[in-house]
Amino acid sequence: MPRSLRKPRVSQLPLASPAQYRKRRSPRHGFGVYALTPIKRGTRVIEYTGELISHAEGERRYPTAPDYHEDPEHTYLLQLDDDRVIDANIGGNDARFINHSCVPNCEPMPAGDHMWIVSVRNIRVGEELAYDYAIELDEPHTPARKKRFPCRCGARMCRGSLLKPKHQALSPLVLAARRAWECC
Ligand SMILES: C[S@@+](CC[C@H](N)C(=O)[O-])C[C@H]1O[C@@H](n2cnc3c(N)ncnc32)[C@H](O)[C@@H]1O
Ligand SMILES: [Zn+2]
Repeated sequence: MPRSLRKPRVSQLPLASPAQYRKRRSPRHGFGVYALTPIKRGTRVIEYTGELISHAEGERRYPTAPDYHEDPEHTYLLQLDDDRVIDANIGGNDARFINHSCVPNCEPMPAGDHMWIVSVRNIRVGEELAYDYAIELDEPHTPARKKRFPCRCGARMCRGSLLKPKHQALSPLVLAARRAWECC
């Protein structure tokens, strides 16, 4: 394929400076990460760092509580690929404070052994950074399970849960980003 037709790789996207975002309290949950300057679409905002472990080890460290538990689930695990998840409890940076939104402005995109949080549209000063966690459980996403992962993103199209919808497409901006940039 001619070089000019090749999609840019995630690892080639421009990198934000840490001066462009800051962690602070969020109405969604605990802390969130906010833009301090405009951030252009297609920017690697921050790497999601942590220990690379298997899915089985992630489940062993942080088993999902049964439905009768009252507190919502809280996780710092992010899937890197079919075999590995990143445990940001160990070696994590500010990326672990980026909250979920059902209408996100960022998307986690893998590049080899690294996971980048990439902006999928231009982000204005003061906006909270967020990606769609789209969490997939092995078991069915019953109403009781969804309640264990409540969403408070406040979007008009909020799904009410951090779980991946079984019958609803992801945001068009996220799909466009996945088409635009080559992972790995
Ligand atoms: C990686 S942490 C994000 C940082 C978190 N706010 C904190 O202060 O530690 C992920 C957890 O934050 C919470 N969370 C993230 N986005 C949320 C949202 N839109 N609504 C409700 N809780 C959310 C959930 O408990 C989730 O498991
Ligand atoms: Zn939501």
